[in-house]
Amino acid sequence: MGKYNFDKGASREGTYSVQYEGTDALFGRKGLEPFWIADMDIEIAEPIAEAMKNRIDNRIFGYTIWQNPKFYGAIKHWWHSRFGVDLEDEEISYAPSVLFTIGEVVRQHTETGDGVIITTPSYNAFIGQLKGNGRKIVDCPFIEDTDGYQFDFNNFETLCKKNDVKVYIHCNPHNPTGKVWTRRELEKIREICQQNGVFIISDEIHMDFVRPKENFVSMVELMEEGDQVLVTTGLGKTFNLASLPHSYFISRDKKFRTALNQAIGSKYGMGAANSLALTAVEAAYNECGEWVDELNDYLEGNFQLIEDYIDQHMSDWLTFKKPEATYLAWIGYEKTGLDDDTVHKALVEIGGIAVSPGKIYDMEKNQHFRFNVASNRERIKIGLERIHKTFEEITKITAK
Ligand SMILES: Cc1ncc(COP(=O)(O)O)c(C=O)c1O
Repeated sequence: MGKYNFDKGASREGTYSVQYEGTDALFGRKGLEPFWIADMDIEIAEPIAEAMKNRIDNRIFGYTIWQNPKFYGAIKHWWHSRFGVDLEDEEISYAPSVLFTIGEVVRQHTETGDGVIITTPSYNAFIGQLKGNGRKIVDCPFIEDTDGYQFDFNNFETLCKKNDVKVYIHCNPHNPTGKVWTRRELEKIREICQQNGVFIISDEIHMDFVRPKENFVSMVELMEEGDQVLVTTGLGKTFNLASLPHSYFISRDKKFRTALNQAIGSKYGMGAANSLALTAVEAAYNECGEWVDELNDYLEGNFQLIEDYIDQHMSDWLTFKKPEATYLAWIGYEKTGLDDDTVHKALVEIGGIAVSPGKIYDMEKNQHFRFNVASNRERIKIGLERIHKTFEEITKITAK
């Protein structure tokens, strides 16, 4: 038994949570058990709650400066103690969110119609953002083999050589597959991008969910002065703070980060920080390393439960391998031969469960679904039973 009780569960009632109160509208049905959007049914760590309460007691929430020693100090401490990476104050900047940062970097480095590379299956918001900004999605699909998802370096190099390809959005660890990139892979990516003038955005928001944490290699570790690389991350996933507007980016190119900070401050008028978020960053990064380690152990237990349950009860229909990272289970149903729409409808109507359909992470079809496991184990069991019921019935119906 650890120090923290992740079995406890959390009440979302009355909080207008997207995961709970947004499910009926999105899935078109009431009463579904939701496991889709990537936030956690886990209460924030005590030091964060305490620090925020103390900050509220001050009763002043005026415009707040993020360029301060406590903000830099907390981030530097986290990166040093968790990943052995040393950062300088000026390399770190606050931004309203990871997706905001990605959108603005894409706008700064490309014109309408230019190409941006993503790897599918891909976090669906990247696809939406590129469409929303009128940029061309240049897909470099993963190659799936028995060892998992492999990056197609040959295809990547060919795509990077195209004149209109200016940016690559890299996701490490990767959502939805849970892939953790090796140092060798990162070096090759950096080299190809440098040779072809392709800017790298490395979205590392799931970085604290690499198990074991020593296996995480950040793009920051390869970054040299002037490199056309930006790392963007935040505490939204790790500490369940997604609704507190914040993120930060790391860049070793002074000209570029100045331009980005100027855009955030002048073009968008968002130069000041969310003061509660700053308080949370400080408490989380200085005091909650042990909490994150135990949370990862708990998630590993949830993944083990899923793997065992699928092996015992659903191996005729589903394929699943515990991911090395994230709290997202990426489950395949290729064995059933069923199409995406049939399975999605069945999960909702037969199983009464809301998971993310794999199709939204791809350009066409994708016989997977994404199941968020950052919940207490009792709920994970309920989810698994609902998935079981779905496949048991749908395979009977379609076999007739
Ligand atoms: C890979 C990835 N990037 C970014 C985000 C969202 O980050 P933010 O809320 O800071 O924009 C998510 C949330 O699911 C994510 O999975």
